Amino acid sequence: QELDLVERTLEAAITSDVPTAYDLSLGLLSAGGKRIRPALVVLSAMIGGQADMQAVLGVAAAAELVHMASLVHDDVVDETRERRGARTANEKWGNKISVLGGDFLLSKAFQLLIGNGGPDVLRVLSGTAVRMTESEILQASAEGDLALWEANYWRIIGDKTAHFMGACCECGGFIGGADMRTREALREYGFQMGLAFQITDDVLDIAGDPSVTGKATGADLTHGKYTLPVLLALRSSPDAALLRSMMLGRRLTADEAESIAARVIACGAVDEAHRAGIECVKKAREQLARLEPSDYTRALDALAGFVISREA
Ligand code: IPE
Ligand code: IPE
Ligand code: MG
Ligand code: MG
Repeated sequence: QELDLVERTLEAAITSDVPTAYDLSLGLLSAGGKRIRPALVVLSAMIGGQADMQAVLGVAAAAELVHMASLVHDDVVDETRERRGARTANEKWGNKISVLGGDFLLSKAFQLLIGNGGPDVLRVLSGTAVRMTESEILQASAEGDLALWEANYWRIIGDKTAHFMGACCECGGFIGGADMRTREALREYGFQMGLAFQITDDVLDIAGDPSVTGKATGADLTHGKYTLPVLLALRSSPDAALLRSMMLGRRLTADEAESIAARVIACGAVDEAHRAGIECVKKAREQLARLEPSDYTRALDALAGFVISREA
């Protein structure tokens, strides 16, 4: 029910008298998406127990807008053509409009927060936006650089995805009036489930079904993004030396990426990455166990389970 109301808040927030600004935003919104970040805000606010519904909806919608902005910019950077089962903004409108469209969505997010968030929420979400952009810059500068990925994988996924999920939970805690101990548990829960979420995304890029994920597979490898399954294969695959030599110092063709992906799957590295995700989910659930059980903690627990078993 609350997520339906978040949807209405989003529809109202993205309006513009500049047709392209509105069309770009509406295209992304109506293509769907899992709405995990608003769900985290809503459930965390309910746990606090003193939530003003207007503030919850505003912050939850703002979190989804920050996410949407990051997707539009990420798809420009990653040269992605398909997202949420539909053509990306850059595919439809080109990079110029997409960069500005991402800025539009981010600005709308902070506008929503002015009336609804309060200083703590603004501090946490603006800090998150800084970390996400730093991480995307680090990732872009690490393209094709195996040593950089080996040294920075956990930092990159922490900053681009997991801290944001933790921040959604923490902000829900603030608007729901949760005490500091509860807010800390919620934040750490969100961070750990966010790590598992991005590991799963990285696994799906190698071993997922595009008709289910709504995104093309193999793009991480061809873009020189060496994610956990690949890094693990470099330790365990009988072809590790060959894989390393293929990845050193140049961009991979689609055929090479496909052959690397097949070897990464065959040596069990995808399963090993999945197990690393399960460990994060376990840590996320430990944080929930510190809280008073309720329908809301049980929903967060189920969400953590979904994150690691999802196929889309
Ligand atoms: C995609 O996020 C970007 C990542 C952090 C991996 P989601 O998988 O939550 O995207 P939507 O909102 O459901 O489309
Ligand atoms: C997450 O990383 C991107 C953002 C945090 C915006 P990815 O680049 O792996 O996300 P997808 O696979 O494009 O959704
Ligand atoms: Mg991407
Ligand atoms: Mg991905």
